[in-house]
Amino acid sequence: MYCCMLRSFHIKGNKSIQLTRASFSQNPWDTSLKLPSCTVYHCTHSPVSGSLWQPLTHGTHQPAASHRCMSSTVRRRRLPSAFPVIDGTFQPALRHVYEANLRNSLICQQKYLEHKEKVMKGGGENAIKRHTQRNRKVLVRDRLRMLLDDEDYLELSPFAGLGLPYGDIPAAGCLTGIGRINGLWCMFSANDATVKGGTAYPITVKKQLRAQIVAMQNRLPFVYLVDSGGAFLPLQSEIFPDKNHGGRTFYNEAVMSAMKIPQVSVVCGSCTAGGAYVPTMSEEAVIVHRIGTIFLGGPPLVKAATGEEVSPEDLGGARLHSEVSGCVDHFATSESEAYECTRNIISTLNYELPEEDDTQVEEPLYCPDDLMGLAPRCYNHSMDVRLIVSRLSDGSRFQEFKARYGTTLLTGFARIEGLQIGIVANNGELTYEASLKGSHFVQLCDQRDIPLIFLQNTAPEPAHTHSQTKAELNTNRLKAQGSMMSAVACASVPKITVVIGGCHGGDSYAMCGRAFDPNFLFLWPNARVSILAPGHSDAFVQNEEEITQINEMLEEESSAFFSTSRLWDDGVILPQDTRKVLSKCLKIIKQQEYQLSREKTRTPFLRL
Ligand code: COA
Repeated sequence: MYCCMLRSFHIKGNKSIQLTRASFSQNPWDTSLKLPSCTVYHCTHSPVSGSLWQPLTHGTHQPAASHRCMSSTVRRRRLPSAFPVIDGTFQPALRHVYEANLRNSLICQQKYLEHKEKVMKGGGENAIKRHTQRNRKVLVRDRLRMLLDDEDYLELSPFAGLGLPYGDIPAAGCLTGIGRINGLWCMFSANDATVKGGTAYPITVKKQLRAQIVAMQNRLPFVYLVDSGGAFLPLQSEIFPDKNHGGRTFYNEAVMSAMKIPQVSVVCGSCTAGGAYVPTMSEEAVIVHRIGTIFLGGPPLVKAATGEEVSPEDLGGARLHSEVSGCVDHFATSESEAYECTRNIISTLNYELPEEDDTQVEEPLYCPDDLMGLAPRCYNHSMDVRLIVSRLSDGSRFQEFKARYGTTLLTGFARIEGLQIGIVANNGELTYEASLKGSHFVQLCDQRDIPLIFLQNTAPEPAHTHSQTKAELNTNRLKAQGSMMSAVACASVPKITVVIGGCHGGDSYAMCGRAFDPNFLFLWPNARVSILAPGHSDAFVQNEEEITQINEMLEEESSAFFSTSRLWDDGVILPQDTRKVLSKCLKIIKQQEYQLSREKTRTPFLRL
């Protein structure tokens, strides 16, 4: 576990020099270890190179005058930084805590893998056969393989829909996530028709709406792969009537279009009833011959209403919609042709991406696998959160802010894969001082336009009021926490929350819980999400029987898997993957800077 340690750092003048990743085996419990000698191999501060004037094309007919200053092609350099390196070695006295955490994390990881396996099977063997053999369609994950540049995409809430009162709905019947098409990060939503014909359950609707919100918040182009039988009729009352039900998808489509967020649909199956509006309201739509259909009521409905027998193809197939109705814009003879066409559509979007940055990224000095033993089994098993930060930040470097004040909250600056971030991390209770410090730091990041990362691990229950003095302390804390909530709610910078331990009570709001609208929110599998942590109900209920009952309920309902199945987050991630996920999210968020025309228009795109 400890074999991939990286040791480096060296400060020279005002420049940070990156040193080799030393592949030596080292025990992080050994605090006496000194830095090994390393070889200098890369300076992070490359000089600005190349001309500011770039030719637009390389063609021979390019007139000399058509050179222009392209500010986006100017290579920029960061201000030099020499953030101190955190000492990430463990105190030997806490070895038992680390080991207990590790045992718990391994159990949680096993559960994670079981969930993953379940989800990968979609609607089961028979449904897969029906989908591929009878209906001659490509499976949803293979569709994504054909559409996206690579498999390195960020899937959101893959475990949504498992263990719900109305059954197991693998991946909520619809995959959502963010992947690259021709280098551009795009949001996707892809129905899995092996799950009850791709029909929309309440959780499917919730997942699709969340995907649209993520696209709006991060200004991501959206691709819908539509293959759905419309609403899952037995649960229609939970899908149709309310504001955040099915119709909201179409409302969002219009609003996103007005915000200049491009949307493309691929009709690769049935688009029945409400599903018919998804491609129709997209800016461009592709339909696959013999597979794609669009109609408000299908052939059975026509038969019931008029007695007439009509084939799905004649009622709303690819030919009809591309040649007669105009509901779609591109006719594809096969699925692969449809995804190729979609990739070409995406390449017409007005983005100008920066050149690949070849600057060498500093890896953390400590192995990310250690995070398994740092993921707290419960609140009393929390270790210094700096140990976690040292396994996430570039070179394990961290510029701490107010290190000696409000020490139960850690605040400061770091970089992840070269991108600057502000970190706000619980390191104990959110006291009066800690909350004031939190407000100050959040506002600082807002002033400087620096994205915030919240590492949330809140106290298991609210502070109690046993005396007059305690009451005053609690009131002051309440005021300070209220201020921090305001600072977090109103900070206009991107926010990403990772629940690394507990997410309980009011502290979780100040730490940018779901209600405070972070751009992304992930849970570690050991995380607990509930108003009180399990085992703490005796502070509020006296009756023994009731205490046991409530604690049992909290135990079950606070698990990360219970939370993620209900879409209270964007997914469970393994601790050792956190840096990768955060870096991806930061790059995804940054992409909006490269859209060339993004001022708001007053009207959405209208299909006339
Ligand atoms: N509500 C509830 N269940 C539905 C459903 C709906 N709207 N549409 C399909 N299903 C179920 C089917 O009963 C079947 O269940 P089972 O696996 O337990 O037998 C499963 O989904 C798959 O349907 P099936 O027709 O066997 O698969 P298919 O791939 O050949 O066809 C559809 C899929 C969606 C094209 C077809 O089922 C259909 O046309 N459904 C009706 C669509 C409709 O009229 N929707 C209106 C909603 S407002």
